[in-house]
Amino acid sequence: MPQTDVLIIGSGIAGLSFAIKTARRFPEQSITVITKADDSESNTKYAQGGIAVVLDEITDSFDKHIEDTLRAGDGLCDREVVELVVKEGPDRLLEIIQWGVEFDQDESGNLALAKEGGHTAKRIIHYKDITGWQIEQALLREVSTLTNITVLSHHFSIDLITEHHFKSRISQPQPGITCYGAYVMDQYTCKIEKYTSKVTLLATGGSGQVYRTTTNPLIATGDGVAMAYRAMARVRDMEFVQFHPTAFYSKDDNPSFLITEAIRGHGAYLRAKDGERFMFKHDERGELASRDIVAQAIDNELITRGDECVYLDCTHLPKEDFISHFPNIYEKCLSKGIDITREMIPVVPAAHYQCGGIDVDTFGRTSITNLYACGECSRTGLHGANRLASNSLLEAIVFAHRCFVDVEKKLHAISVSQSIPEWNAEGTTVPREQILITHNRKELRDLMSDYVAIVRSNERLQRALKRIDVLYHETEKLYDEAVLSPQLCELRNLITIAYVITKQSLERKENRGGFYNVDLTRSKHAH
Ligand code: FAD
Ligand code: SIN
Repeated sequence: MPQTDVLIIGSGIAGLSFAIKTARRFPEQSITVITKADDSESNTKYAQGGIAVVLDEITDSFDKHIEDTLRAGDGLCDREVVELVVKEGPDRLLEIIQWGVEFDQDESGNLALAKEGGHTAKRIIHYKDITGWQIEQALLREVSTLTNITVLSHHFSIDLITEHHFKSRISQPQPGITCYGAYVMDQYTCKIEKYTSKVTLLATGGSGQVYRTTTNPLIATGDGVAMAYRAMARVRDMEFVQFHPTAFYSKDDNPSFLITEAIRGHGAYLRAKDGERFMFKHDERGELASRDIVAQAIDNELITRGDECVYLDCTHLPKEDFISHFPNIYEKCLSKGIDITREMIPVVPAAHYQCGGIDVDTFGRTSITNLYACGECSRTGLHGANRLASNSLLEAIVFAHRCFVDVEKKLHAISVSQSIPEWNAEGTTVPREQILITHNRKELRDLMSDYVAIVRSNERLQRALKRIDVLYHETEKLYDEAVLSPQLCELRNLITIAYVITKQSLERKENRGGFYNVDLTRSKHAH
């Protein structure tokens, strides 16, 4: 029966930063990080553009970053959270640099700053166009030096343990729920064990895989939000799915390859097939309008023109300079037959980021006692209706720290519960038709992309809800009868995510930021 003091689910920037801090502060406590794929596989690993932090006090200021974040969030950000994240950013950045994360420098040896959509100053620090890979490698290296952290890769968290596992499955949880750890499947042995802990941190990332076209890797199936939702934690703002304007257009790729926004910050143009540079028709900031506006503008151009993609034009940019900033994108495009110095890159919007998630307070506490959440699976109030580019990695390091600050105060006062039942797999059999799982996952992604994507309507949302309901009942039956597999659990989680996105979309009564329902009016709020 694995028992640990601190259980962390997820090994991206959020989970690893929290693990490092907690392990250093409490060398006598055991910290277990469970993660469902290879230890580095995460949204973090694929981050390209970088981290938004105010470092240049002449051209930039906290106030400017705060205003840009509030403007992108279209009136729905929590100002207190925006202020604390922006102001704590530089200290947290320094910490990850001390842990070995490297960033590009300019000729004077200062951190090089880039610009992205929605930012009024250069403030994105980066490592070429593979910032996330650099962060993930450095954090894993740092974790490996701390002997009280155990990282268990290919371990899949199935459900959080709360009071309702102590009673019969149908009894209602009492108000005031507590988390005691999680049931976890070792994917090498297929054995499911209870992992009991004093505190549990969900750092499970996003849910882009609920859509057909997404920049998110296959692991991004919203497991943490779905587990928390089933455990009756508060989940909010899931209707605000952020679509990145520029993913490489290819019908076969999953995930779709991201073409970083930093390229537009570097001077690239968006053009339609006929060559028109269309963005200024939609926003005076042109290609550097915030992401919701650029994605909606592209969607609109594609529908009215009947084209399958638009183009990112870098042909006017100096070649050597481009390659030194974006070597990975240059090579990737070449491998797909596009020489960006001579040809335009075909791009489409793709599901990219979950702005909502598990509702947390300013110390990452969820509505369930001893359960924390940080990173993309959480909803802190920073992003409102649309996240500002490169604010996600920033939010993850700031909130990992704030979760740590709270855990530091209480860890010694919490004891691990000893009376938790083992996982009950009685009466289950190996499913005869695995193909049902694959088909249902495809059907779900198609219906979300067709009915609950950039442009929604009440009719499309209602239609989606009915189809999700059918998939839900089919999958629950399988879940009750079958020996569990990660594929089945992921499908179940994706269905929960689809349901919550659709339901919360129907509940929203005005258009804001990345949320657009043709049956509602847009209300642009001053913040
Ligand atoms: P992740 O890094 O996604 O980590 C989640 C972890 O949880 C993974 O280890 C996963 O395996 C594990 N996990 C999930 N479910 C389970 C389960 N059931 N059991 C066990 N383990 C589980 N943001 C920026 O700020 N700047 C950028 O430049 C940027 N570029 C991006 C580019 C791309 C292509 C993508 C996809 C995202 C980008 N983002 C960027 C967003 C940012 O990368 C993510 O929001 C951030 O990395 C999320 O970190 P995280 O630690 O919360 O989650
Ligand atoms: C990008 O590099 O365009 C992605 C940045 C982000 O998601 O914040």
